[in-house]
Amino acid sequence: MIDNNILLRNIWYYALPSYLLKPGKMVAKILLEEPILLIRNKDGQVSAVRDICPHRAVPLSCGRFNGQEVECCYHGWRFDPKGRCVEIPSLLPEQNTDLSRFDVQSYPIQETQGNIWIYMSDGDKYKPSPVENEVPIVSGVIEQQPHLVEVIRFPCFIDHAVTGLMDPAHSPYVHRVWWWRSGELHEEVKEFDPSPYGFTVRRHKLSENMENMSRLYWLVGGGIPEVEISFRLPGVRIEEITFGKHRVSNLTAVTPISETETEVNFVLYGIPAWLRIFKPLIHILARKFLGQDRTVVEKQQVGLKYNPVLRLIKDSDMQAQWYYQLKREFARATSEKREFINPVKSILLRWRA
Ligand code: FES
Ligand SMILES: [Fe+2]
Repeated sequence: MIDNNILLRNIWYYALPSYLLKPGKMVAKILLEEPILLIRNKDGQVSAVRDICPHRAVPLSCGRFNGQEVECCYHGWRFDPKGRCVEIPSLLPEQNTDLSRFDVQSYPIQETQGNIWIYMSDGDKYKPSPVENEVPIVSGVIEQQPHLVEVIRFPCFIDHAVTGLMDPAHSPYVHRVWWWRSGELHEEVKEFDPSPYGFTVRRHKLSENMENMSRLYWLVGGGIPEVEISFRLPGVRIEEITFGKHRVSNLTAVTPISETETEVNFVLYGIPAWLRIFKPLIHILARKFLGQDRTVVEKQQVGLKYNPVLRLIKDSDMQAQWYYQLKREFARATSEKREFINPVKSILLRWRA
């Protein structure tokens, strides 16, 4: 029932929070098992190329970047940020050579709202079409830079990170801390609708069992908090909480590093100005919270080694089931070069949590 470790292609992945890539610098990362070099030139423009020199495979990240060109540390071949080979020092002027034969693969990049997204295609020279060009956007975010960013690695395949983070039934067991929720289980009823490449939980009041959290919001915002959560492939969750005149938005974007490692990027916007003095505390709490998810996923790896069939139930596992259906449909639609048909239908789900 569950696909064996498919990594979706022809889709945007979260690569890196913007602030981690300074002008004139490079950052090397493995994403979807590919070595990638992210580069920001002196003017602030971000680009990405394959982090392997086409000459003799030394990672370009071992070389130097002067803010305009990357120079390989082995024989000094130079490349511009688009991956074009611009200089091979060992060639004599009369040894006319078409340098474009030595270009390295470059990746489409978009930078928005303080996040760098990368388009992972299934072919070298592939350019995303205008529709595919859409990276996930957090609506209503006026300020372009996030107030808080946390990047954490989960020791698992992407599917377990995604289904773990979206799972509504684990909270009472995994996140049992006083400020988050009470210990009792309550019935929850939520309405879901299909949305682009995923689904959305309709706007609703914060759950009953999160009364402490609600009180906290009420205290700081003077309003009853309401939340809307949307999920889209490949693993992007956007949560918007409005209370009083405030709107706090959270983007959680999951990117596979390899079959056994996944990066979870947690980005927060809209913390009211006077609350920002508590940023270090919010940071600690976010880290603790994600750490709890990480710990349980780590334990899950012990059982997954034996390849068990996973028994997903309704309704509390419906989102996980949708995730697998969405993923399968996306992979099929791309390979058949046809339009994606969202398998999710509007529905009311009920569970205890
Ligand atoms: S390996 Fe890069 S220039 Fe030779
Ligand atoms: Fe969790």
